[in-house]
Amino acid sequence: MRRPFIAGNWKMHKTNQEAVEMAEELVELVKGVSEVDIAICTPATALAPLAEVLADTNVALGAENMHWEAEGAYTGEISPVMLKDIGCEYVIIGHSERREYFNESNEDVNKKVKSALNYELKPIICVGESLTQREADRTKEVVQEQVMAALEGVAVDDLTAVTIAYEPLWAIGTGQSATAEEANQVIKYIRELLTEKFGEVAEQLQIQYGGSVKPHNISEFMATSDIDGALVGSASLEAESFAEIVKFE
Ligand code: PGA
Repeated sequence: MRRPFIAGNWKMHKTNQEAVEMAEELVELVKGVSEVDIAICTPATALAPLAEVLADTNVALGAENMHWEAEGAYTGEISPVMLKDIGCEYVIIGHSERREYFNESNEDVNKKVKSALNYELKPIICVGESLTQREADRTKEVVQEQVMAALEGVAVDDLTAVTIAYEPLWAIGTGQSATAEEANQVIKYIRELLTEKFGEVAEQLQIQYGGSVKPHNISEFMATSDIDGALVGSASLEAESFAEIVKFE
């Protein structure tokens, strides 16, 4: 059985004081939850103080992006070595906002995924189609291309450290989520692709749905056959709503 995995993506929100206050509140609220993997992925500025707050708790720390090089002349970038050193366990890679506003290509995503694994960070790889692609019936094709490119050259043994987040672009931040069954179909397809490429180990992979996941709809997603959790944006910004999602029934 796969364990559910609920991760928050704070995006560009919160000063360090706000971050620490919320994390402290969250830790209290989800104390004792042992059957769900929990992580918050936060702005780089908040990682160091949060590493202290989350130490020895059941909430793991993640970054929202990284460069693939360990170090070098890349002004403004942050390396996997730095993230590992600070205490990150996870890193989101290839979020649609990075693909759209910062021109991240499938090839960049692949370099980052391999580098993250190399430095023992667990990548949460985001894939998903735009509304235009969906309307042109190209969802599967787009998702296949993104998943296969992201995992090109990744060893079978490393696959269990990977999480995939299926996030249809039209559902992100819009309040309009995919239906649980629509999302489940795509996620099932992703698992089939991975089984073809990597074999049985794909059965163990946690695949999340993301896009307007809220306390009121999490249970529908979690009741499906193939959705193992959620990558949560706006509803992860408040401790109470995020904790409610973590404690879905
Ligand atoms: P949302 O964002 O929950 O605000 O739709 C999800 C995401 O972008 O990961």
